[in-house]
Amino acid sequence: MPAVVIIGAQWGDEGKGKATDLLGSRIDYVVKFNGGNNAGHTVVIGDQKYALHLLPSGILSPGVTPVIGNGVVIDIEVLFDELDALIARGVDVSKLKVSANAHVITHYHRTLDKVTERFLGKRQIGTTGRGIGPTYADKINRVGIRVQDIFDEGILRQKVEAALDQKNHLLVKIYNRRAIEADEIVESLLSYAERLKPMVADTALEIHQALEADKTVLFEAGQATMLDVDHGTYPFVTSSSATAGGASTGSGIGPGRIQRVIGIVKAYTTRVGAGPFPTELFDASGEFLRANGFEFGTTTGRPRRCGWYDAPIARYSARINGVTDFVLTKLDVLTGLETIPVCVAYDVDGVRHDEVPVSQSDFHHAVPIYEEFPGWTEDITGAREFGDLPKAAQDYVLAVEAMSGARISAIGVGPGREAVVVRHDLLA
Ligand code: GDP
Ligand code: IMO
Ligand code: MG
Repeated sequence: MPAVVIIGAQWGDEGKGKATDLLGSRIDYVVKFNGGNNAGHTVVIGDQKYALHLLPSGILSPGVTPVIGNGVVIDIEVLFDELDALIARGVDVSKLKVSANAHVITHYHRTLDKVTERFLGKRQIGTTGRGIGPTYADKINRVGIRVQDIFDEGILRQKVEAALDQKNHLLVKIYNRRAIEADEIVESLLSYAERLKPMVADTALEIHQALEADKTVLFEAGQATMLDVDHGTYPFVTSSSATAGGASTGSGIGPGRIQRVIGIVKAYTTRVGAGPFPTELFDASGEFLRANGFEFGTTTGRPRRCGWYDAPIARYSARINGVTDFVLTKLDVLTGLETIPVCVAYDVDGVRHDEVPVSQSDFHHAVPIYEEFPGWTEDITGAREFGDLPKAAQDYVLAVEAMSGARISAIGVGPGREAVVVRHDLLA
């Protein structure tokens, strides 16, 4: 089973980090292929808690070679800080490989992210403010800075000057900010060169060679399907391809290599930032999910918006990504609810929609049609086999599985590495 992709099936924070970590001991390479330090993955190992942003979660498994692919945008200072924090805790990060083609987030990207959001006012997206959108915009606009540019001072200076020629007009004339000096950016990027150099590689070639040698390579998405720039709730999305197709373009392997796509889906739904969210709750049930699930952002600390499970979204994700297996996470968070509603379809201005409507306006108006399932009160955090779950919890999982477009192969019953019920081997 050489190439496996893990993606988020909702709006992020489904527990991708934990799922990657779960497979860690059985994988040889873990590749991050999209996004940047907008991601936040919390992994709990024993009494230790790790928060990862830019590095793939698989870095916590000894023996794994972590790779940052060409589809990622890198804030190099954040990269070094994250590496230092892991080194201080005894994690071996020496094998990390960084793509020479990945784009670099600079001070002006972060500044532009913040000022454009401020200018959008009530229409803002609620970005993480990490410079993600402006860096991808520069990439597509062909004025980006790539990792390899840092090792050619002449080219680097030309590119930074060309980019700032445009951006300083924007910053000064439109946003009323001070101009940014090219020297300042060039100097800071050059200061990273020495430490960065040994990590930089032709990562597409390395991954290809690993697959040829029958190694197991896990491609770990940041963000999620509904935040994908093409398939998400545009414009309330991130700026990268967070779906399974992104694993191919964001790392440089052919799509035919991918043999399994694991969709991570929470037993309810959360979202951070603005944009449509049909099952969102504004009442005590929403508070219950937020408090029990500890739904506060790993990156920004913002409280996450919470709502019930949305089956059309799971089905949409199964389809867009070609999900072969779902991991249903945080089932334990639902313990104690008398009944658990699941959205089975939407009512859009009096018309029933069984699938996610293609029109953004329709999706904004979608009112969930719920089916209710009986809850359970037993503590399920110790369950390790499907039969250990109370009957009502089993029935909830089976009902959700029947509506979601792929089998549920594992079930999360707590934050810890061991807190999982496995029904089908994810790598077999
Ligand atoms: P990611 O961005 O998809 O990696 O997810 P985050 O790490 O941002 O958010 C998921 C949170 O849920 C983390 O704090 C995890 O430790 C936690 N978590 C993951 N799986 C489970 C589970 O099955 N039960 C509970 N209670 N917590 C979980
Ligand atoms: P993980 O990998 C949840 C959201 C932001 C905002 C939108 C655009 O932990 O699941 P950006 O800074 O990317 O331009 O913000 O996307 N967002 C996330 N929400 N989890 C994430 O990552 C996210 N990364 C970005 O809140 O609404
Ligand atoms: Mg997260």
